[in-house]
Amino acid sequence: MKYLIINGSPHKGNTWMLVEAVVLDIQLKDSLAVFDIIHLAELDLPFCRGCSACFRLGHEKCPHSEKIAAIIEKITNADGVIFASATYNMRETALLKNLFDHVCFMLHRPYFFQSKALVITTTGGVGAKTAAKSIASFLKGIGFNRCYQFSAATYSWNDYKITEAASSKLMKITDKFHRDIISGRLHSPSCVLLIPYNLFRGMSLAYVRGTEYEIQDGVYWTEESRKKGVYHSAIPVPFYKKPIGHLFYIIGKIAGRKYMVTYKK
Ligand SMILES: Cc1cc2nc3c(=O)[nH]c(=O)nc-3n(C[C@H](O)[C@H](O)[C@H](O)COP(=O)(O)O)c2cc1C
Repeated sequence: MKYLIINGSPHKGNTWMLVEAVVLDIQLKDSLAVFDIIHLAELDLPFCRGCSACFRLGHEKCPHSEKIAAIIEKITNADGVIFASATYNMRETALLKNLFDHVCFMLHRPYFFQSKALVITTTGGVGAKTAAKSIASFLKGIGFNRCYQFSAATYSWNDYKITEAASSKLMKITDKFHRDIISGRLHSPSCVLLIPYNLFRGMSLAYVRGTEYEIQDGVYWTEESRKKGVYHSAIPVPFYKKPIGHLFYIIGKIAGRKYMVTYKK
């Protein structure tokens, strides 16, 4: 299995120690596991410029598209992705947030439907769970099929000693993550996830080619494979969840007509 590690901490500190423990554990379970690593601090990804080209014209038009396209490809090709971040000001680090800003357009046009993540965060005292939740909810919004979360309070700047309790919890979560990846199973989306997906499916009809404010969302949502289903065709959706998707599609269609998002031409 192929794993991609995205390290959002600016150095190999407390959080990295946990990542190393996870890597060792996965290697014990799967001697053929391979790990690719991106240290965001070494990537020199400039801040998102806010040009909105990714939303309007497609992410290939991003001024930093070379770096972003390479990361998107790596995530797509990985069987599992490990996101690691220290907690800064109760959230993920700016390094990781900057990466997320560059792929924010995927909240409108979700993409990573077959990807599964393990999110690892540490904090000095408080906020690691909030940071992990913030990361996981973004990942789910851009399509991730499953996000496992582990967070630890280290009470340390760079001298964390993993406690037995933390280690045992981390191994349990790693085991679930690893087994899920081996199983190849794709889980059905929660009802909560069906809401934004179908709102965008409906709203984007106001931005299809030929309309006053045509944008890439309109192209994406009118592709044959996305026109009808309440979620990506590869992911099973049980019958009782479908009405929620259909309802929010209709709400999206109405909202799209009423609240037009404009841009300077
Ligand atoms: C800029 C900065 C902001 C931080 N913000 C918080 C915080 O909001 N809450 C907290 O409890 N610890 C905070 N910390 C402490 C780190 O989250 C903690 O030491 C973490 O384990 C560091 O992980 P790392 O060694 O992987 O970078 C902060 C540390 C730094 C350098």
